[in-house]
Amino acid sequence: MTDPTKDLSLEEKASLGSGADFWTTKAVGAVPSLMLTDGPHGVRKQTGASDHLGLAGSEAATCFPPAVGLGQCWDTDLIHRVGEALGREARSLDVDVLLGPGVNIKRDPRCGRSFEYFSEDPVVAGVLGAAWVTGVQSVGVGTSLKHFALNNAETDRMRSSSDVDPRPMHEIYLHAFAHIVRTARPWTVMCSYNRINGVYAAENHWLLTELLRETWGFDGAVVSDWGAVRDRVAAVRAGLDLEMPGTGPASDAEVVDAVRAGDLSQDAVDRAAAAVAGLARRVQPGREAAVTADLDDHHRLAREVAARSIVLLKNDTDLLPLTAGTALAVIGEFAQSPRYQGGGSSHVNPTRLDIPLDEIRAQAGAGTVTFAPGFTTDGSGDAATLRNEAVQTAADAEVAVVFLGLGADQESEGFDRDDIEIPWGQLDLVAAIAQVQPRTVVVLSHGGVLRLQPVADAVPAILDGALLGQAGGGAIADVLFGAVNPSGRLTETVPVRVQDCPSYLDFPGENSHVRYGEGIHVGYRGYDARALEVTFPFGHGLSYTDFEYSEMMVASDETGVVVEVTVTNTGERAGREVVQVYLTKTDSRVVRPPRELKGFATSAVLEPAASEKVSIHVARSDIAFWDERRGDWTVEDGAYVVGVGASSRDLRVTDIVDVTGDEQPVPITWQSTLAEALADPAVAAAMADMLPAGASDGGDALGTDIVKVMGSMPLDRLKRFGMASDALDDLLTTD
Ligand code: GLC
Repeated sequence: MTDPTKDLSLEEKASLGSGADFWTTKAVGAVPSLMLTDGPHGVRKQTGASDHLGLAGSEAATCFPPAVGLGQCWDTDLIHRVGEALGREARSLDVDVLLGPGVNIKRDPRCGRSFEYFSEDPVVAGVLGAAWVTGVQSVGVGTSLKHFALNNAETDRMRSSSDVDPRPMHEIYLHAFAHIVRTARPWTVMCSYNRINGVYAAENHWLLTELLRETWGFDGAVVSDWGAVRDRVAAVRAGLDLEMPGTGPASDAEVVDAVRAGDLSQDAVDRAAAAVAGLARRVQPGREAAVTADLDDHHRLAREVAARSIVLLKNDTDLLPLTAGTALAVIGEFAQSPRYQGGGSSHVNPTRLDIPLDEIRAQAGAGTVTFAPGFTTDGSGDAATLRNEAVQTAADAEVAVVFLGLGADQESEGFDRDDIEIPWGQLDLVAAIAQVQPRTVVVLSHGGVLRLQPVADAVPAILDGALLGQAGGGAIADVLFGAVNPSGRLTETVPVRVQDCPSYLDFPGENSHVRYGEGIHVGYRGYDARALEVTFPFGHGLSYTDFEYSEMMVASDETGVVVEVTVTNTGERAGREVVQVYLTKTDSRVVRPPRELKGFATSAVLEPAASEKVSIHVARSDIAFWDERRGDWTVEDGAYVVGVGASSRDLRVTDIVDVTGDEQPVPITWQSTLAEALADPAVAAAMADMLPAGASDGGDALGTDIVKVMGSMPLDRLKRFGMASDALDDLLTTD
């Protein structure tokens, strides 16, 4: 295969590395111009004015559930199908690269862009993000894994430095990116706006070259977020290949001048040009294929996946599913003006939009369906009058279905929330309704997590609709009336209070720094470590049927751990179970959360009394922790508790599995402490004459354990006190 950049001049190669305009790259020599556009849950192709904030219009396209909803289906096959449909629509609109998936970790529920990300957990984000990538790329359209990396807040996002320690960096924030790069091979990676420990992502050689390319084996093109490049030469030197949008000839000239001045290697420019040419080569077959998009079929898929993304949070007295013919009161503005996607660059112009109230009426049978808005989202109208009307409407019906949530102007790309409250007096409204109508169902629409304890205390049934895309209205009706048995699971914890969030004191940061003070204790890891009550735990979701877990088997080998369990439908309705596997290391030498999700699988639809043996493989690399002493991954030797269940706080069966570790002993040096030295048999023997008799069993004159008291003293200090035996001199390595 000939390299189309081989005969290009330095100027031509430099020009390949910066866009022609907002959405396209330059055509240079045999390398064609490519189109890149948003977004993760629908194609946002602009034909007129261009912007990266979803302000100007775009072509009609299917609006699937944003990641906050899509992630709740926990089903990689389903997400792959959504990816394929998105790829088909992108291709049919002549889009070569679809800018997604967004896999940044939901570190804090106040992040304005939580709606666009999958989870607080890196395994969920990685596995589901990989399915999205393989789906889109299966039809010859590229993807752009974003935002690489540690873009976990919107506040000051183009300058702020995410200041994070190595363990959370690798175990939490980079984990999904590594998994997706290695297993799904995205054709591009989008570097983020922010700095990481003080260095801009776009100029971060460690991130873009040493880690992404040399360690993970990424072989695609690194694209900047739109406007993330502030120094083109530094960016190309670090490993950036394509600056977007294009910033004109001056940017290319900077590159040429830097090479000529010896400030930038020709190799770096060659690498960037080859990466863009390689991307063009990858999209070519898709360009030539006759890829079609059936928008009616995609709407049906959007409805199917939306229904699978709904989480049944509560269902006391089995109020749900509803029976057709029941007299219903539908309350809330969102029932007639649905909130179905987020704001900003991902905003889609839907091909059609289901209205929940209409869809409920379509399935209500002979039952009357009355409606009252209950509140307005723009502060208009008289709140008391609206509330009284809604309360009366609810009282007059057999069941009230109350739609609550966040408005489009309360969360978006570009800014973070100050709290996790439900606005406009909705909590008072639902409390008033529950007083007169005990058979009340709440349906939630939101991107970021909400404080739900008052709702959970007030009503017997709650559906979490998150954001469900254009077909969400039909999906909600399908679940309300039981046409679909809900199997969605939360991918983010719902805390009792925002103050309980592990990141609460360190979000969103200030003076362009945000300190990740909670370390690895993100989301459920943090709530569990502090034994905090939560309103609804990570992984939670109910069903209209019940499942039992039995016959658990665990085994470990050189690839990792295999977990098998039999799941049986013990209820009266067919349904799916999402089986979750958590690992615990109780005797670890490092700090660990009480449990960590390491694998999951969604069962097939099980008929009543049917069973399925579910097998989940936990890769050895997912058992490892980041050993800061070595600057590398380490698998700790010994026993691990394997917990399998229906959520992080509903483990049904547990077992113990032994794993062979690969820990490398840390050499004892003069900087090692007395305690570390005594833990090494050879060094301890050489020190035998050094300590008074009984020094380490509390028998000395002081009645204390000298080793405990002095254990943290480095050997070189003991030596300066004349307490180190000469035998150590020839035994210890020097640093
Ligand atoms: C935006 C977003 C990014 C998007 C890009 C193009 O600022 O951060 O996710 O793909 O610009 O719109």
